[in-house]
Amino acid sequence: MSCRLLVTGANGFIGSALTEHALALGWDVTAAVRRGSDCRYLADKRLHFVHLPYESPQELSKVLRQQGRFEYVAHIAGTTKALHRKDYFRVNADYTRHLAQALSDEAVRPSCFLFLSSIAALGPAQEAERVHPDQLPRPVTTYGASKLAAEIHLEAYKESLPWIVIQPTAVFGPRDRDLFQFIRMVHYGLELYIGLRPQPASFIYVKDLVELMLTALERGPKGQKLIATDGRDYTTDDLGAAVRTALSRRTLRVRLPVSVVRLIAALNEQYGRLNNKMPALNREKLRELIDVNWHCDASRTFQQLNFYPAYDLYRGMEETIQWYRHHEWL
Ligand SMILES: NC(=O)c1ccc[n+]([C@@H]2O[C@H](COP(=O)([O-])OP(=O)(O)OC[C@H]3O[C@@H](n4cnc5c(N)ncnc54)[C@H](OP(=O)(O)O)[C@@H]3O)[C@@H](O)[C@H]2O)c1
Repeated sequence: MSCRLLVTGANGFIGSALTEHALALGWDVTAAVRRGSDCRYLADKRLHFVHLPYESPQELSKVLRQQGRFEYVAHIAGTTKALHRKDYFRVNADYTRHLAQALSDEAVRPSCFLFLSSIAALGPAQEAERVHPDQLPRPVTTYGASKLAAEIHLEAYKESLPWIVIQPTAVFGPRDRDLFQFIRMVHYGLELYIGLRPQPASFIYVKDLVELMLTALERGPKGQKLIATDGRDYTTDDLGAAVRTALSRRTLRVRLPVSVVRLIAALNEQYGRLNNKMPALNREKLRELIDVNWHCDASRTFQQLNFYPAYDLYRGMEETIQWYRHHEWL
């Protein structure tokens, strides 16, 4: 019998990539999506669907019992751009706690519950040169704080639920809409950077991330938190170079002073509030983009999982741009 996997947030950028990869491996996948979610990337006829009432652990238990036990659960649903602080905590922390509580029930307890957190929960590198899994978490955004709160909630279920936390850095690849905004600008010949100096950055290509996640579900150490990057150190200039090279474009490179970007972010945010949708560039997000170091030490992850990413930023970006072109996003 094929392995039963439940994926929350299955219609999103990372969730749909994981779902697709698991289906390709012959796994029996159930996609947890919201009523009204855009499910254009979930057209495979083998998929099953479920709506999960995250608000109530009791209702969640009922639905999960009806579904029967899943071997693995990948909890990917989360908000990265909320309008209010309470929304970050409700969706990222409370829903994760409710799901963990419901899945601790012996009748439905999976062999592994994977929570997709973020490097934002740890915060940028502190005294060391790289973000380290053992550093004292110091998130710089509410988003990061809400992911950290979810991780802390999971500690309470250490005895009753075998969980693993994956903390990815910036993820890019087909279907992503956030980094795409930068890519589109480069496509039109403009490379805009925040601040006058390149920022230390790290990335992981979505194909590597989903392979890493499936490996973690199958043989990852339980009760541990693992950073996910491609293992290399970059700067924001490398990102520009990777996109420019993949697009074969000549560009005008402009470094905007932080004060100007702050103003743009504030205006963006006001516009977003009027439309009830937080834009990718907002004042909170800026805290992750200015004067902080996101080089990461992912060596523990690679050792523990015996998994090494196949793509670097340049190769991943080439595939990504091909996808955007093929699907006429560019
Ligand atoms: N992309 C990155 O660089 C990155 C890096 C580190 C961690 N992560 C984490 O990876 C996860 C997926 O991110 P993504 O980049 O794939 O984003 P995405 O494309 O926006 O996907 C988010 C998913 O979460 C679901 N979701 C959002 N709010 C929800 C709510 N209130 N109730 C139920 N489901 C909800 C969305 O459903 P709808 O489509 O219905 O809104 C969607 O399926 C998030 O938890 C994020 O924190 C992402």
